Amino acid sequence: MSLLAVRNLVIDYAETRALDGADLDVGQGETVGLVGESGSGKSTLGSAVGRLLTRSARRTEGEVLVAGEPVFDLAPHALRKLRRKRLGFVFQDPIASLDPTMRVGAQLRLVLGRGADVGFHLGRVKLDDPRVVRSYPHQLSGGMAQRVAIAMAMATSPELLVADEPTAALDSQVREEVLNMIFSLADGAGTSILWLSHDLPAVARRCDRVAVMYGGRVVERGPAREVLGKPAHPYTAALAGSAPAAAAHGVRLEPVPGRPPVLSGPSPGCAFAPRCTFAVERCDHERPEPVRVREQQVLCHRAAELEDHLVQGHAPEVTA
Ligand SMILES: Nc1ncnc2c1ncn2[C@@H]1O[C@H](COP(=O)(O)OP(=O)(O)O)[C@@H](O)[C@H]1O
Ligand SMILES: [Mg+2]
Repeated sequence: MSLLAVRNLVIDYAETRALDGADLDVGQGETVGLVGESGSGKSTLGSAVGRLLTRSARRTEGEVLVAGEPVFDLAPHALRKLRRKRLGFVFQDPIASLDPTMRVGAQLRLVLGRGADVGFHLGRVKLDDPRVVRSYPHQLSGGMAQRVAIAMAMATSPELLVADEPTAALDSQVREEVLNMIFSLADGAGTSILWLSHDLPAVARRCDRVAVMYGGRVVERGPAREVLGKPAHPYTAALAGSAPAAAAHGVRLEPVPGRPPVLSGPSPGCAFAPRCTFAVERCDHERPEPVRVREQQVLCHRAAELEDHLVQGHAPEVTA
């Protein structure tokens, strides 16, 4: 059984469809990178894991199971217990994720209980300076605040940590350090990680598995090395090829022309079709169901015929 199973999840914010039937699994101890352009639905999916969506969000279809428990159908006390016992979250903006009115030490004790060894937990994220305990969040740098947030999220040794672009708001010098901290603490505690990012190569370097989102669906998922090295969905191939790391290795930069969709209801076909070099008529009006290509699950009508033609960094024409 997966620790996290997301099944055909559909989430709407009033007129905007943020998730359009998303499927995802995270196993015990596994690290999974969830990648996609801005607006693809990563944060909505990540927050749905703990049912932490804003009030305007509505689950229209599907379900989220954490250790078999249906998150959207739990009573409030059961939901609180599930969050406390099994889940941890780290968000993009560390200062906003802490309580601005409380000193760091007091916040940690609130999470950990009165007798908790706050110094120990801060030491684990290399915040040894005793002044940190007495600081308010706004007195910390972004990197320090994020380390406090990581200490809080990991203090209870959750089974699953959801990290939503945890380094996006930080200076580039501290990003690797913060990621190293997240991954080493999770590794030590046996915590699974769902890391939301728009950096496919960075995710592939650290994660066991990768899931690629587009238009509110996971369009490709599988082992990180396979998804990055031998993408099975045209969107993944384009994404892998347009990444700076690929450019640095001499692969031609090929961003995907056009923009991702903003849906207001179910996509009638494949949401990527308008930008896809390989789209044929059926792609516009028939929703792709998952198919297996090698070790990947892919939402593409043409995945089987394209199998040997998609290469990271360039997508040659294939005749229908
Ligand atoms: N609170 C909200 N109210 C209305 N629309 C939202 C809200 N949050 C996200 N959306 C919309 O839902 C879609 C998915 O957004 P999001 O989950 O934030 O994607 P990502 O994290 O990949 O950038 C986007 O079209 C976005 O504009
Ligand atoms: Mg986001």
